[in-house]
Amino acid sequence: MKGILLAGGAGTRMYPVSRIYSKQLTLIYDKPLIYYPLSILMLGGIKDVLIISNDETIPLYKKLFEDGKHLGMNISYTVQPAPNGIAQSFILGDKFIGNDSVTLMLGDNIFYGKLDFLYYALEHNEGATIFGYRVNDPERYGIVEFDENGNAISIEEKPNQPKSNFAVPGLYVYNNEVVEISKNLKPSPRGELEITDVNVEYLKRKKLKVEKIGRGVAWLDTGTPVSLLQASNFFGVIEDRQGQKVACIEEIAYHMGFIDFARFEKVIAAMPKSDYRNYLERVIKEL
Ligand code: DAU
Repeated sequence: MKGILLAGGAGTRMYPVSRIYSKQLTLIYDKPLIYYPLSILMLGGIKDVLIISNDETIPLYKKLFEDGKHLGMNISYTVQPAPNGIAQSFILGDKFIGNDSVTLMLGDNIFYGKLDFLYYALEHNEGATIFGYRVNDPERYGIVEFDENGNAISIEEKPNQPKSNFAVPGLYVYNNEVVEISKNLKPSPRGELEITDVNVEYLKRKKLKVEKIGRGVAWLDTGTPVSLLQASNFFGVIEDRQGQKVACIEEIAYHMGFIDFARFEKVIAAMPKSDYRNYLERVIKEL
């Protein structure tokens, strides 16, 4: 299974900060936003990750993650020349995906809680597995409609009159067909290759599973300054209470067995003095 982290986009909703850097680099409490979705791919056991972004931001991600070896991963990078749609990921990532299946995570999506829904999907996916999460503001998302037996019957992108309150989060598990499907998409009226159109095609082929995620899992929005503040507060409260970090990628790399103890120690030793390093030094002492 390959992983794609799509982390570009125009990001103009974050003006004026969007003039100088992308939203996914914004601090969510104590680490950049992109750490959170990357950690979800890692917790899914995915070591081969392609980060797609614009040419200005890729060098900054490279500074953060390099080639991923220190995390026991292979992290590579591809430029998306313009934000032409989420489904373009599979065209740009064509060679990277090869004959494999692929999980796409949007770089501005955050999950917190038990990830059993993802583990199950990664193990059992045949065509496509996407998720449904109840939200209060369905007109802002891809929305899935279910029949009385819980089967998905329609998916619409940002409908004016949503047929349900179940939004499709930015985490998608696909078999290799996704490459061919994406290559045959036509741009939507807003000029983008829509991920919703990919999912509609899987639905047509009767190869789409939509799994509901329960309320025990938090799927946080990062679309507005207020939602970024809320996400920071959310993780600030949890980390302060537990004395444990969320989305600490080095700690996850060790716990997932991507790196051994000696590599973990080395990675920590290379960090500048900081709370982040102090935290990892404590983690390693407590092992
Ligand atoms: O967050 C989940 C939602 O994400 C889904 O429910 C929608 O179906 C899906 O279309 C998407 O909606 P958004 O309006 O949130 O998409 P947005 O354009 O904000 O892009 C999501 C992330 O992907 C954002 O971090 C920017 C990045 N992106 C987006 C596009 C269109 C790219 O890097 N390149 C792109 O071409």
